[in-house]
Amino acid sequence: MRFLYVVGTRPNFVKTAPVIGAMRERLPEARHTIVHTGQHYDRLMSEVFLAELGVPEPDFMLEVGSGSHAAQTARVMERLEPVLAAERPDLAIVPGDVNSTLAAALTAVKMGIPVAHIESGLRSFDLTMPEEVNRIVADRFATHLFLHSEEAIENLRAEGIGEERMHFVGNTMIDTLVALEERFRAAGAAARLGVEPGGFALVTLHRPALVDGPLLPETVAQLAALARQMPVVFPVHPRTRKMMEGIESDHPGLSLVEPLGYLDFLSLLADAGAVLTDSGGIQEETTYLGVPCFTLRDNTERPVTVRAGTNTLLGLDPAAIATIPKALANRPPAPTDPPALWDGKASQRIADLLAK
Ligand code: UD1
Repeated sequence: MRFLYVVGTRPNFVKTAPVIGAMRERLPEARHTIVHTGQHYDRLMSEVFLAELGVPEPDFMLEVGSGSHAAQTARVMERLEPVLAAERPDLAIVPGDVNSTLAAALTAVKMGIPVAHIESGLRSFDLTMPEEVNRIVADRFATHLFLHSEEAIENLRAEGIGEERMHFVGNTMIDTLVALEERFRAAGAAARLGVEPGGFALVTLHRPALVDGPLLPETVAQLAALARQMPVVFPVHPRTRKMMEGIESDHPGLSLVEPLGYLDFLSLLADAGAVLTDSGGIQEETTYLGVPCFTLRDNTERPVTVRAGTNTLLGLDPAAIATIPKALANRPPAPTDPPALWDGKASQRIADLLAK
């Protein structure tokens, strides 16, 4: 049997690393080929992550880099096609919802190669998000859909997807978190950045709806105000860094830092008093860790994190950042149980199913 994994961005690595590990262990005789599209390419966005996650050196580097949606998607398709033609995998495995996911799923299905989609069935019901389009396409064409939460079942049913393609396995991102727990708990990133565990806010923002338009200057002003009440650590995504050029960001208590390695990031996440984000994965990681998360978006494709009580949707409204200190003060105790099957074993379930 031949399995081929296509990854391209930082969150893809986190979601796929444990699946590759479990598959290699479960099916040691099979051929496991890793393709890195190169959608993320900075050392801090790619190499550092792959090394910390123990992902073997990719067999193919497509080096597509940045571009418009059409250009990036097309480049992945053009460069992946000859790899699939040469490798002829029995299954192409794609994670998440980024442009590399869409491109890989389309290329494989058009070549008659079955596709498995990790993190299937999430829906924000907001077609202005590029990720929503990517998810719908990947799910429509995948043969095996690996679901990370129960609400995905209803979403997929509503799109007419048959139950026989759905496998509720749990969250592979949480597998990575569980596997790294001992190491990130010992990483001590807060102390290195000069903030007290439990007493600072950690911020990540990178979605086009927030950072590519007029909301960014107001967001930075609100972060400066928050930083007067509690120190704010903000590792800045390259997209956001570019858009912040010309915005005054030197404010007391507000530390803008380079993107962090995953161990340092998880160390900060676990120690944060509050997290402000527009990321999908961070809504999940904070739910598992029981850390209060405030999501600066109008919707979430991960309502399970809101139901769990850790995640609050603030809306796509920078002014809502001002409500965080009060919300923290009035917050009920953190829940103790993570969502169903967020237990560190999702990748093993995937490997067991595929081995059959
Ligand atoms: C992509 C995904 C998004 C995911 C995010 C995680 C799509 C449509 N978006 O967004 O769903 O949440 O990854 O981080 O696939 N850049 C660099 N170095 C890099 C990568 C990017 O400088 O290594 C800069 C470039 O200016 C680039 C911009 O960031 O144009 C955006 O990169 P891109 O991969 O297109 O989208 P992300 O915003 O990273």
